[in-house]
Amino acid sequence: MLHHLAIIMDGNRRWAKERMLPKIAGHKAGYDNLQKMTELCKNKGIKYLTVWALSTENLEKRSPDEVGGIIKLLNSAINLKKKFLSEDIQVQVIGDTIRLPESSQKVLEELMASTSHCNSLTLTIALIYGGQDEIIRGIKRYIATGKNIDDLTTENFREYLDVSILPRPDVIVRTGGDVRHSGFLLYDSDYSEYYFTEKKWPEFDEEELDKVIAYFENCKRNFWK
Ligand code: FPP
Repeated sequence: MLHHLAIIMDGNRRWAKERMLPKIAGHKAGYDNLQKMTELCKNKGIKYLTVWALSTENLEKRSPDEVGGIIKLLNSAINLKKKFLSEDIQVQVIGDTIRLPESSQKVLEELMASTSHCNSLTLTIALIYGGQDEIIRGIKRYIATGKNIDDLTTENFREYLDVSILPRPDVIVRTGGDVRHSGFLLYDSDYSEYYFTEKKWPEFDEEELDKVIAYFENCKRNFWK
C-alpha cells in the first residue's frame, strides 16, 4: 500500500507558456490541481502527501513578481481551512519557513494548528526547501544542543531534520519531464522509488496517479520476489 507519496510539482510555467498565459496562471493552475490531488490521494488511501511548492533556489533566482505571486497563492490557502477540516486533512510545512513573509507564516500557523487533529491525510508543503540546506540546518540544530558529535548516528541525526515529522517517502514523483531529484527529501529518499512523467503538474490527473500507485505496487512485488 502506498503510504507516503511525495511530488516535485514541476512544469507550471511551461504549461502556462504553451497557452500563452502569464507564469502565475501556471502556478494558479498548479495550486488548483494540488487541491484536486489532495482529495484524490485521500480517497485512494494514501496517508501522507508531501509536495515541493517553493525551493530555496526558486526564492533566490526567480523574479520578485513571480515569487510574490506564489506567496499570494500560499496566503489564499487560508480560505481552504474549512475544506481541510471537513475532509479531515492535516496541514504541515517543512523547509526554512522562517524566511517566509510574516503574513504567510501566520496563515501556515493557523492552518497547522486548526488541522492538527485531522488524520485522514497529512498534506506537507515544502517551502523554501532544499535538501542540502535541510541537512546543514539539521547539523546546526544538533550542534546547538551541545551533544557530543561522536554520539551522532545516521538514525538519530534524522531527529534534527525537517523530515523527522514524516515517514520515509515510498514514491517520489517528478512531473514536467526532467529526470532528476534536485535534492527533494535528500536524506530520506535512499529507498524511495522514483516515478518521472512528461505531464506538467497542472495536467497530472487521476489516471496518472493510478499509474504511480500501480508502479509502486509492482516495484514492491519485484523487491519481495
Ligand atoms: C515548478 O514549476 C513549480 C513551482 C516552483 C511552484 C509550485 C507552486 C504551486 C504548485 C502553486 C502554489 C502552491 C502552494 C501550496 C503555494 P516551474 O515554475 O519550475 O515550471 P517550469 O518547469 O515550467 O519552469
